[in-house]
Amino acid sequence: MAKIRLANEQDAPTIADIIKKHYEEDYMGYVTFNENYVKEKMKRNNFYFVAEVDNIVVGCLRASVVDIDLAEIRNICVEERFRNQGIATQLLQAALNILKEKHMRKIVARTIAWNDKAIKFFKTFGFEQEGLFKEHYRRGIDIIQLYKFLK
Ligand SMILES: CC(C)(COP(=O)(O)OP(=O)(O)OC[C@H]1O[C@@H](n2cnc3c(N)ncnc32)[C@H](O)[C@@H]1OP(=O)(O)O)[C@@H](O)C(=O)NCCC(=O)NCCS
Repeated sequence: MAKIRLANEQDAPTIADIIKKHYEEDYMGYVTFNENYVKEKMKRNNFYFVAEVDNIVVGCLRASVVDIDLAEIRNICVEERFRNQGIATQLLQAALNILKEKHMRKIVARTIAWNDKAIKFFKTFGFEQEGLFKEHYRRGIDIIQLYKFLK
């Protein structure tokens, strides 16, 4: 079991490194993703979680409040050698708990349309597909949006 906790500013470089590693598997946002971007995002309307194994950060997740009771799960990634151990499950569960406490109604998550592993992962949590965005953030990148209502 990993230890899940809210991230702090000191985690920003590690989080940026982990996210950058996953560009090839899913669209993770700006290519200029860096420590300062992570720190900036930590300031408001976002909950960054990290997963630690033996005090080393091996995974992260960002939950963003995007409207009054709408939130988005972004940047969920686990270092390759720590996968299939339930770490992303722990991260998402922690995020959903906090979003529920914050009275969020609808939670969405976006993945690249061919990221079967991530889509299956979210569906296990009761997320359902609600949309396909053609060539969305970048040319050649189709995006699927999944959603789950918390209330
Ligand atoms: C998608 C991703 C976050 C999943 O991370 P993970 O930590 O491997 O996920 P989990 O271990 O919680 O779940 C994955 C599988 O392991 C299984 N599992 C969960 N706990 C387990 C355990 N203790 N032992 C063995 N298997 C376990 C799950 O049931 C799941 O199985 P399934 O694929 O048959 O449904 C990871 O593959 C990743 O970082 N991918 C790259 C980035 C990405 O695509 N992000 C998503 C879009 S933003």
